[in-house]
Amino acid sequence: MSAPLLEVRGLHKSYQLKGREPLEIIHGIDFQLGTGECRPVCGPSGAGKSTLLHILGGLESPERGEILWKGESTRSWDRTRWAIWRRQAVGFVFQSYHLIPELTVEENVRLPAMLAGVQLGEKWEDLLDEVGMTLRRDHLPAELSGGEQQRAAVARALVLEPDLILADEPTGNLDAASATAVLDLLVKMVRERQKSLLLVTHDETVAGRVGTPFRITDGRLTEASA
Ligand SMILES: Nc1ncnc2c1ncn2[C@@H]1O[C@H](COP(=O)(O)OP(=O)(O)O)[C@@H](O)[C@H]1O
Ligand SMILES: [Mg+2]
Repeated sequence: MSAPLLEVRGLHKSYQLKGREPLEIIHGIDFQLGTGECRPVCGPSGAGKSTLLHILGGLESPERGEILWKGESTRSWDRTRWAIWRRQAVGFVFQSYHLIPELTVEENVRLPAMLAGVQLGEKWEDLLDEVGMTLRRDHLPAELSGGEQQRAAVARALVLEPDLILADEPTGNLDAASATAVLDLLVKMVRERQKSLLLVTHDETVAGRVGTPFRITDGRLTEASA
């Protein structure tokens, strides 16, 4: 049997604030995510969802525990290796879109390829079309609605066809109708490409549209039904 895409074993993380007891946010998280799996991670505000996603994206280091990528331990990965992995293997979608304000929609979507030195051909045009942003390709982020910005961000996250998409409250800034549209688009595009998605949210309705939830409670991750 082949290894899962992502496996997490015994993850721990605490924050040390000056003059205070360490704040243990994540204590003992284990889970696996298979290729083509879409899973929401639910939990209330402050539960450690963003912290977990940052650790999984190599943006923060865990205090203890291990992350395996396609069966390979990341323990010995240095910053350069993490940076290469982030560029090739993962796409991020954030609550506040994080588009570059000075770049047009087209430039934002093509940026990951430019940074990676990858020739996209016409693929980015198909992607823009798929997220319904072709007519807005020359617009700057400030000229777009939240839903439009997030659709551009979804295209940017998928442009290099990463195996994993990490999304942090991607619909948290959107009104209900745009939220549903963006979420369904993201899930559809990830599924069609047989990629994997971890999407963190405090919103059970959002989670229900993505898949069977994991839940963060008291710093641990459980299956929603458990
Ligand atoms: N850099 C940091 N330093 C200290 N505490 C932090 C830091 N980042 C997050 N925290 C704390 O960790 C807890 C979990 O935060 P977070 O992962 O952002 O939760 P969530 O995304 O589930 O709302 C919160 O109590 C937050 O205040
Ligand atoms: Mg958060």
